[in-house]
Amino acid sequence: MKYAAITDRLAHLGGAKWEVHARAKAMQAAGQPIIQLTIGEPDVATPPALIAEAKRAMDAGRLGYSNGRGEPALLAALAARYSKRTGRAISPEQIACLPGTQTALYAVLLTLTGPGDEVLVGDPLYATYEGLIASTGAVAVPVPLRAEAGFRMQAADVAARITPRSRMLFLNTPHNPTGAILTAADLAALGDLAKAHDLWILSDEVYEELVFEGGTFASPLDNADLADRVVVTASISKSHAAPGFRSGWCVGPQEFSARLLPVAETMLFGNQPFIADMTAMAVSAPSEVAGGMAARFARRAALIYDKLHGVNGLAVHKPDAGMFTVVNINATGLSGECFAQSLLAEQGVAVMPGESFGAALSGWIRISLTQDDALVAEACARIARHAALKQGIAA
Ligand SMILES: Cc1ncc(COP(=O)(O)O)c(C=O)c1O
Repeated sequence: MKYAAITDRLAHLGGAKWEVHARAKAMQAAGQPIIQLTIGEPDVATPPALIAEAKRAMDAGRLGYSNGRGEPALLAALAARYSKRTGRAISPEQIACLPGTQTALYAVLLTLTGPGDEVLVGDPLYATYEGLIASTGAVAVPVPLRAEAGFRMQAADVAARITPRSRMLFLNTPHNPTGAILTAADLAALGDLAKAHDLWILSDEVYEELVFEGGTFASPLDNADLADRVVVTASISKSHAAPGFRSGWCVGPQEFSARLLPVAETMLFGNQPFIADMTAMAVSAPSEVAGGMAARFARRAALIYDKLHGVNGLAVHKPDAGMFTVVNINATGLSGECFAQSLLAEQGVAVMPGESFGAALSGWIRISLTQDDALVAEACARIARHAALKQGIAA
């Protein structure tokens, strides 16, 4: 039988990246005591008030079809939130509610890109981005994010890769996997390029509320000068420890939003009113859990830095936000993939290979900050020992 070309384009972009994670889960299920530091699930439960609101809404019969854009109360709550953040009026018609940032990103890419269009995207990058870009037939053009530049995208690196086919600059701030935050100055320089070359700017801001103390979040949406070319996506998955609710959205210019609507309507026949009610409650007040998560993740990032930076040739990058730390393991002579696979097999610690996040992180690993401090400390001891063993240093 014949299959659509999209299945070939995506075939190597799915599960293979998560092989170490899947293996670790299987080992755990078989009773082995694995320290799981692969994926980034929030380390707290969804706030009970939000669960109660979802239940209340279900009991109240909020179970019918919605519409393609979203429930009016949620759209109004998001419009208020983004109007406050940007300091200018953002209307409900500029927003669409979709099941999670992931789906919102897909709808945005379908709305703005097509076969042959080039999407400039940072490398390293979140694991699903390559698939998102390839799904529309667009081409990912990796822009190297350098450790020396704090993994912040530099306008000169983008400029060097712009061609007549460039259509979009795809940003992620705060960034997964590196925890880098783009500064207002970075965004101004990137914005100037986008204007000069008529590019869309897509900014995935799912980690907006997980900024560590001392860090400052900035968004291209907050620059009025870029208002006609910026689209932002986010969700309550991280900010409200609610990934399973699959509740996200996108915000952009009026015409973009009008053109996205039939795309959203084609993908799903309106999303769930009871989840919309719970999300409206979530985004209308400061998150009860984001501050605590950010503080714990920052503390664990500092712990990893103290335990591993400069130890047995390892180099730790300090994140400014998010749920992860990346560690350079080049001194071991192994790829991130080999290091992660052997670390799991020999030390019972599961981390992600840097290569799962792009070529720029080959020779790196990504460690999740979502486990207890004691487990993180124990994992660091084993990672240090593993690095020593692989270099023939007495552990
Ligand atoms: C950078 C980034 N974007 C999007 C997502 C997906 O978020 P959501 O649960 O809102 O779909 C994740 C999840 O880990 C992420 O790290």
